Amino acid sequence: MSLDLAPDTPAPAPAAAPTATAERPGVTATATAAAGDTRAPLTPSTLRTIVRELAEQPEQWIHHVRLSTEERWYRRLAADEDHEVWLISWLPGQSTGFHDHGGSRGAFTVALGELEELSLGGPEQGLLIRRVQSGTVRAFGPEYVHDVRNTASGPAVTLHAYSPPLHSMAHYELRAGGLVRTSEEGPDQW
Ligand SMILES: [Fe+2]
Repeated sequence: MSLDLAPDTPAPAPAAAPTATAERPGVTATATAAAGDTRAPLTPSTLRTIVRELAEQPEQWIHHVRLSTEERWYRRLAADEDHEVWLISWLPGQSTGFHDHGGSRGAFTVALGELEELSLGGPEQGLLIRRVQSGTVRAFGPEYVHDVRNTASGPAVTLHAYSPPLHSMAHYELRAGGLVRTSEEGPDQW
C-alpha cells in the first residue's frame, strides 16, 4: 500500500478542532453496545471492535494521513455523544509521554508500521514494554496510563477510539518512585 505522505509539509494545527463537521467514517454504526443508554461509556471490548473494523477499511482513513516533523499529526475522524475516533500518524522518534485519558476508556490499533508501548505493571512487574505491531489492538480501562512511542525506523499510523469522548488528559513523568503527574490539558489544546 502506498501513502501520499508529505513529511516536509507543515502540519495543520493539531488542535484543529474537531467540530460537528468532522467526518464520520461510518464506524459509529458498530458502536451499539450502549444502545438505549447513550450516556453509558462503551466498553473497551466495543472500542477494540471499532478500531479493528476501521483498520480493515483503509478507504475510510488513508486520505487523512499526514506526517509532521514537529509532532505527531492527528485528526478526529468521528465523534458522537458516547465516543470519538482519532487517526494519529507518527514519524520515528515521536512519542506521547506518559499520559492518562481523563477517565475515558480506550482502544487503539496500529494500522501501519509498528510502535512501542510502555506502562507500569504491578509491584512485581515494574515497567512493561510492549512492541505493538501492525494489526495489534490494545484496549484499556478508565485508569490506564501509558507512553506510546515510534521507536521503529519508519512512520506509523494508528486508529484510536475513546468513550466517553476525551475531555482531558494528564501527563506524567516516570521517576524513581513511580509516575508523577506533571500537567493536564483539555480539548482546546489538541
Ligand atoms: Fe493514550
